[in-house]
Amino acid sequence: MTSFKRYMITSALPYANGPIHLGHLAGAYLPGDIYARYCRLKKRDVLYICGSDEHGVPIMLRARKEGVSPQEVVDRYHTMIKKSFERFGMSFDYYGRTSAPVHHETSQEFFRTLAEKNVFVLKEEEQLYDPEAKIFLADRFVRGTCPICSYEDAYGDQCEKCGSSLSPADLINPRSAITNATPVQKKTTHWYLPLAEYQPRLEKWIETHPEWRPNVLGQIQSWFQSGLKDRAVTRDLPWGVAIPEDVARKAGVDATGKVLYVWFEAPIGYISATKEWAIQSGDPEAWKPYWQDKDTCLIHFIGKDNIVFHCIIFPMVLMAHGDYILPYNVPANEFLNLEGHKLSTSRDYAVWLDDYLEKFEPDSLRYSLASNMPETRDADFSWKDFQARHNNELADILGNFVNRTFTFVAKYFEGKIPEAASLDDLDRELLDFIKHTRESVGEALDNFQFKEATRRMMDLARFANKYFNDKAPWSTRKSAPKICATTLNLCVQTTYALAVLTNPFLPFTSRKIWKMLQLDGQPEEATWDKVGEKLLPVGHALGELHILFQKIENKVIEKEIDRLRKVQAQIQQEKQPGQISYISIEDFQKIDLRTAKIISAEAIPKAKKLLKLQVEVGNERRQLVAGLARDYSPEELVGKTVIIVANLKPAVIRGIESQGMLLAVEDNGKLSILTTEKPVASGKKVS
Ligand code: 2FM
Ligand code: ZN
Repeated sequence: MTSFKRYMITSALPYANGPIHLGHLAGAYLPGDIYARYCRLKKRDVLYICGSDEHGVPIMLRARKEGVSPQEVVDRYHTMIKKSFERFGMSFDYYGRTSAPVHHETSQEFFRTLAEKNVFVLKEEEQLYDPEAKIFLADRFVRGTCPICSYEDAYGDQCEKCGSSLSPADLINPRSAITNATPVQKKTTHWYLPLAEYQPRLEKWIETHPEWRPNVLGQIQSWFQSGLKDRAVTRDLPWGVAIPEDVARKAGVDATGKVLYVWFEAPIGYISATKEWAIQSGDPEAWKPYWQDKDTCLIHFIGKDNIVFHCIIFPMVLMAHGDYILPYNVPANEFLNLEGHKLSTSRDYAVWLDDYLEKFEPDSLRYSLASNMPETRDADFSWKDFQARHNNELADILGNFVNRTFTFVAKYFEGKIPEAASLDDLDRELLDFIKHTRESVGEALDNFQFKEATRRMMDLARFANKYFNDKAPWSTRKSAPKICATTLNLCVQTTYALAVLTNPFLPFTSRKIWKMLQLDGQPEEATWDKVGEKLLPVGHALGELHILFQKIENKVIEKEIDRLRKVQAQIQQEKQPGQISYISIEDFQKIDLRTAKIISAEAIPKAKKLLKLQVEVGNERRQLVAGLARDYSPEELVGKTVIIVANLKPAVIRGIESQGMLLAVEDNGKLSILTTEKPVASGKKVS
């Protein structure tokens, strides 16, 4: 790794609208913390920054649902998240929040600079507007009937029932989620980032980083291949960082009710939190070198859903601003599944950090997540694996080695480090292994290989146990006391090495070992590079022994598995047609199903998923709007006999009347229309 003067490390700012769960930790937080702690032990100049992401529509929606202000929501979750991070041992140098005045000013300054440099493109467009609430409606604020599956409560950006991604204009009978009023189209102006124009510059920059994780580069390349599209970075919303009035005035736009897009300002939150850190540390200018000096290594730890924002959009903003450095690496993690299924926070299929910490130690989770980190592909967290790692590795390997060393020294050497006489091959091998571990763990960490680093760290404890066994001090105690003393001296030295080398991964355990060794200060003050070089002095008195890890029993783990199983069963049941609610034949007869022959089909401009069909139903002609465009070309539909619901209330979709609904079935994301098995005339009743 190139050597840098200083390190600026960030972990994605979590949204302040829900508690932290294991998926968050495995994605952006644990790796960032391990790396920051390692850098500090390497005596690098490092700052580790994070904070709460407090804007965006989901926060507004939650506030509305709870009947409180968005500020109340973010205050509550900011405090909660900050505390859970501390309990988990996160070592941020500063944990900020995007509702802070410094953040508002900093993001406005960015926006102003880009506007002054004429970076933005201004576009006027029509958007849905709630005439009662008098606000423009973000996609999530529009609800209506899904054109694909007819679910009546689909969101403007996605149907939760069939999973189709939508735009608000696709919805049938759209309504405002706030007042239920029918939205109207209204003109509004927004500032766009010219990503298309910057694509060549971004591509050139990414080319200088072939060492980035393949999954990160893969995602970036696929964005490039589809061609970057300009992105609006302002929104008409009542919650967020206001657009600077002077900028709007110069552009001849009314700034009222306009805020910066959350993904424009959230990453700037890293910078504003660093500014707050600088103010608190007594030197308000101290943030600058961390963000502006070319000798700073900037690293963003994120989950894979944040790649485009950290590898394309934010770097474009930084490039366009001109005063800032670009990230050196963005080691994004993939997702963490839970007991073989996708996490679902809304369905409570998750392990929440605060719940976890009520029952178990933070280090057990840190170890299990680090050993199984979703670095290059999605990983699975299972409670059985967690238990096995805790019992068989933390307790039986690391805990056991420290325990047997301390017990032996207390019992036979009055609790003091015995003298090492001349070393034999095994002794030298152990000392070499300590130094080798220090280097190899460091190398893995500098390459962001956390799983590998964790394994190498535990290998030292493994090796040390083997050394203890091979040296059999219980037998040399009488036969060769000098050899026995040497063995125990080296075992204590290894314990010291473990206190330091475990610190990034297991900070609580590291402190416990440090305390047992009766050393001054904390392990965080130790120097990584001195591990295996500097040895503890003969005669140094060791402190009291504490068991580092108590075994976790099956019944404790079964309880956790059981809870998740029940939640998962519920989710599966709702997904499948399992629970049938029967209807009477009269109910069924209310639906007038008819055969219809497609006479013509055409695309609808600006509606990627929809087609306009003219169908013949007996003597009648009908017009249908159907969400088939992704799976059928207009030509292949013409001439087909399909089944339609002929008595469905007409609806206007994208300004076009649809006089019925065509039946189709979705399988694996592909639609297939229902037709008749033999040629049948149109207008026939289906029963
Ligand atoms: O995905 C998320 O949780 C976002 N709140 C991450 C923001 S990271 C940064 F850009 F602020
Ligand atoms: Zn749907």
